[in-house]
Amino acid sequence: MAVLDRVDLVIHGGTVVNADGRGEATVAVADGRIVAMLDPELPLPEHDRAIDARGRLVIPGGVDPHCHIGQRLGEYQALDDHRAASTAALWGGTTTVIDFAIPDPGQSPLDAVGERRKLAEISRCDSALHGCVVEWDDTTPGQIATMAGLGVRTIKLFTTYRDRVMAEPDVVLEVMRTLRSVGGIAYVHAEANHVIEDAQGLAAADGAADAGHHPMTRPELAELAAVTEVLATAEHVGAAVYFVHQTIKEAVDLVRAARRRGVRAYTETCPHYLSLDESAYAGTHPERFVCCPPLRAASSVASLRARALVGDVDTLGSDHCCYSTSQKLQHADDVREMPNGLPGVETRLPVGFTELVVRGGMPVERFVAMFATNPARLNGLSTKGVVAVGADADLVVLDPAERRTVTVSGLHMATDYTPYEGAELTGWPTFVVSAGRVVLDGDGFDDPGPVGRALDADPIPEYLLT
Ligand code: URP
Ligand code: ZN
Ligand code: ZN
Repeated sequence: MAVLDRVDLVIHGGTVVNADGRGEATVAVADGRIVAMLDPELPLPEHDRAIDARGRLVIPGGVDPHCHIGQRLGEYQALDDHRAASTAALWGGTTTVIDFAIPDPGQSPLDAVGERRKLAEISRCDSALHGCVVEWDDTTPGQIATMAGLGVRTIKLFTTYRDRVMAEPDVVLEVMRTLRSVGGIAYVHAEANHVIEDAQGLAAADGAADAGHHPMTRPELAELAAVTEVLATAEHVGAAVYFVHQTIKEAVDLVRAARRRGVRAYTETCPHYLSLDESAYAGTHPERFVCCPPLRAASSVASLRARALVGDVDTLGSDHCCYSTSQKLQHADDVREMPNGLPGVETRLPVGFTELVVRGGMPVERFVAMFATNPARLNGLSTKGVVAVGADADLVVLDPAERRTVTVSGLHMATDYTPYEGAELTGWPTFVVSAGRVVLDGDGFDDPGPVGRALDADPIPEYLLT
């Protein structure tokens, strides 16, 4: 073994868990990177700081592939900014957040990227960006190529939200074809808009378009129809496609079957689709649970969870959106007018760990794949999502047995509620290290200041995750 100079940090005594295995090792960190993984029997190298991780797991810092930070959509402005969202992310063991540059009406996709990159300058953790295309014109291929040159190689496409961000099927096709040539991936929100508009219209005619009836207005069939169509488009043009927030086993199965045929298709789900169900809309605060797609019936949730447990879901994204109860209530009588989305960047780790590992018996390795490794790979972030020499020193030390009860007052997202109020969850970080800095320890959060870097995505390799 090469002799190590003095290092900044050692994490010793813990079990290091990566997506492909686990082992006892001392992790040595210098200049923001992991510089050695040492035999735990060896004396510790000279160091400035040591973390004793005995009895705990050491996993890669989370990579959250789906965050809407300070999102502005229509009349609604989400309540956080990059400082607040990244701080909450770090409290929850996520050290890289990936935000969306959704253009305002009349704004070009490229300008939206420029604007979002500026907003991210106050981030406390590293961040990356998905572009977004709504309409196609002669400039779009050039803009996609320029974005790729700027390190933005994933483009969000919505098949719903007409007159706001919906992309027509031919736009989806053209974007996919162009992305293929720059090593990019289409990130698709797949719900069939015509089915949704029809279901919403029928519900409204019955006086049942309020938050309590949200699931009826966005049926499972709408998701199934859109995933089928988008997959066919991807297969036709030979492009890679990533489905955000899949909620039903039928959609996951379509992606798996396509993958077996050689289509580079990937599934994301979110903590709320694994842990909550549509009974939330019958409670006292249905508006707090309005997200798209909606929470599904308990039987659908159980089937989705079963798919995740056998490894059919590639990533866990939070779909973080920070609206307050009063914003949600403003139009709670009509879901067509409501702001969608749930706060979740901080709770992705404990909700996912509790549901999948503690209750579902998922190996921690598979959880790490969904939480960090696969989101890093599918976003061309080669230094993220792994505890290995040369990787960024983004690390979480967690006690797999520590349970906490969730209260909104104990969380740090810029809103007044959490969908998990009162839930007993396991999987909270004891220590969080972000780019080599210990930002969370027994003394609480040590704000590193606006040190988060804007990450450039490499071309996404032409491999298939197994
Ligand atoms: O309800 C949701 N998911 N809101 C955020 C925007 C989106 O559709 O991802
Ligand atoms: Zn979406
Ligand atoms: Zn989203």
